[in-house]
Amino acid sequence: MSTRLVWICFAAALTLAGRPAPADASPQTPPPAPVYETRANHDPNGIGKFYLGREIAQVMGHQGADWLERPEREKEERPDLLLPALHLRAGDRAADIGAGTGYYTRRLAAAVGTNGLVYAVEIQQEMLDILTNKMAAAKIDNVRPVLGTVEDPRLPAAGLDLILMVDVYHEFDHPAEMVAGMVRALKPGGRLVFVEFRGEDPQVPIKLVHKMTEAQVKKELAGFPLKWVETNETLPWQHVIIFQK
Ligand SMILES: C[S@@+](CC[C@H](N)C(=O)[O-])C[C@H]1O[C@@H](n2cnc3c(N)ncnc32)[C@H](O)[C@@H]1O
Repeated sequence: MSTRLVWICFAAALTLAGRPAPADASPQTPPPAPVYETRANHDPNGIGKFYLGREIAQVMGHQGADWLERPEREKEERPDLLLPALHLRAGDRAADIGAGTGYYTRRLAAAVGTNGLVYAVEIQQEMLDILTNKMAAAKIDNVRPVLGTVEDPRLPAAGLDLILMVDVYHEFDHPAEMVAGMVRALKPGGRLVFVEFRGEDPQVPIKLVHKMTEAQVKKELAGFPLKWVETNETLPWQHVIIFQK
């Protein structure tokens, strides 16, 4: 190597070394692509696509929207216990990913108050239409509907205090890409919350691919710039697994 080239490399190395770390902790080189496998033999409620040993579930269609508003949900899921466990404050910015009819969106909207904002993200426009009508009927005006894609929640960067997913993550067609998008959308210190039916408990009357174990959630989150902070087990059938950026 010529002396001139050595100096150019040295100067470039110094310049790079002096740079501050990027604000959003995203690596300079992209992480390796997630490995998804397809298997012919699979659960009829799954899509035959596996991620880190777990089969991804079929997406719940908008035709079943009424099921999300069933009155028994209050007793089965105890939203009155979940909301305080999220420790939201007035003025917070939050997102409800896979918001469905807005069963949890409207509770988040009440918790963040009129100075706060909730993004309701869905991949089914029909669900967003139902949600939008329900918000208008209830005169809730701090909810912003967002039509996402299976790979991208389409949220503003580094703007959110909390992202909630209730009974949703196990349906993501591209879970790793979705988590990367949600991490980008969180403020430093923002929290990512998984509410999933307990895969460890055979007594929970939910189809197998629609449940998740805590260990599997942690395994799938291991490569991201997030730390696990808490798993709350006070709900009857679901665990609340909380990570922080
Ligand atoms: C079982 S429903 C739960 C709805 C809501 N969270 C609730 O608990 O009432 C799951 C929802 O997630 C949505 N969904 C699935 N994959 C998604 C993705 N990648 N981004 C946003 N929404 C998604 C589906 O369209 C469906 O409406």
